[in-house]
Amino acid sequence: MNTSAINSDYKIIPASLEDVPGISELLKFYSDQEVLLPRPESDIYRSLKDFYVIHHDQKVIACVALLIYTKELGEVRSLAVSPAHMNSRLGYRLVQQVEKEASHLGLKKLMALTYVERFFKKMDFEVVEMSVLPEKVWGACINCHKFRNCDEIAVLKYIN
Ligand SMILES: CC(C)(COP(=O)(O)OP(=O)(O)OC[C@H]1O[C@@H](n2cnc3c(N)ncnc32)[C@H](O)[C@@H]1OP(=O)(O)O)[C@@H](O)C(=O)NCCC(=O)NCCS
Repeated sequence: MNTSAINSDYKIIPASLEDVPGISELLKFYSDQEVLLPRPESDIYRSLKDFYVIHHDQKVIACVALLIYTKELGEVRSLAVSPAHMNSRLGYRLVQQVEKEASHLGLKKLMALTYVERFFKKMDFEVVEMSVLPEKVWGACINCHKFRNCDEIAVLKYIN
């Protein structure tokens, strides 16, 4: 594990307009590998207030967004940590931050669609059938090019 990031002040902060190119670059890196869905810069601007980032050397090295679907359900979205900073607990801390905010807002459940099932299981998410997430499936997924062949795993966590 890269311990340098654990003890230093890698702060989680709300994203600002200046972060958009960095967020976009980070997400593109993983969407090119088909690990994350592509997200156009215009979409990041529209959702900017949903995002948290972590900086290092004035660059965005990690990000996450909380998307709210209903009174009860939110999604951990666009979670990414740059390869140079993986395994330093940044992903874990970003999910914790989203959980904290979701709980503060009064949401009851957090979901994610993911290929990193084990990462989310470590944070007490459970694998669920897509069909228990109708808001997601019929809202955003219907516009996704993978809609008919979705190979992501749905995970869900009940929060306080
Ligand atoms: C998945 C991702 C966000 C994890 O971030 P990270 O900062 O490297 O992970 P952390 O250091 O916080 O790891 C927390 C725990 O999850 C485990 N973990 C991390 N990545 C994992 C992976 N890909 N598969 C399984 N477990 C993983 C770690 O070993 C650690 O376990 P521990 O508590 O036993 O030590 C990061 O690897 C990433 O950006 N991946 C590419 C994009 C992606 O898949 N995003 C998720 C979309 S939903």
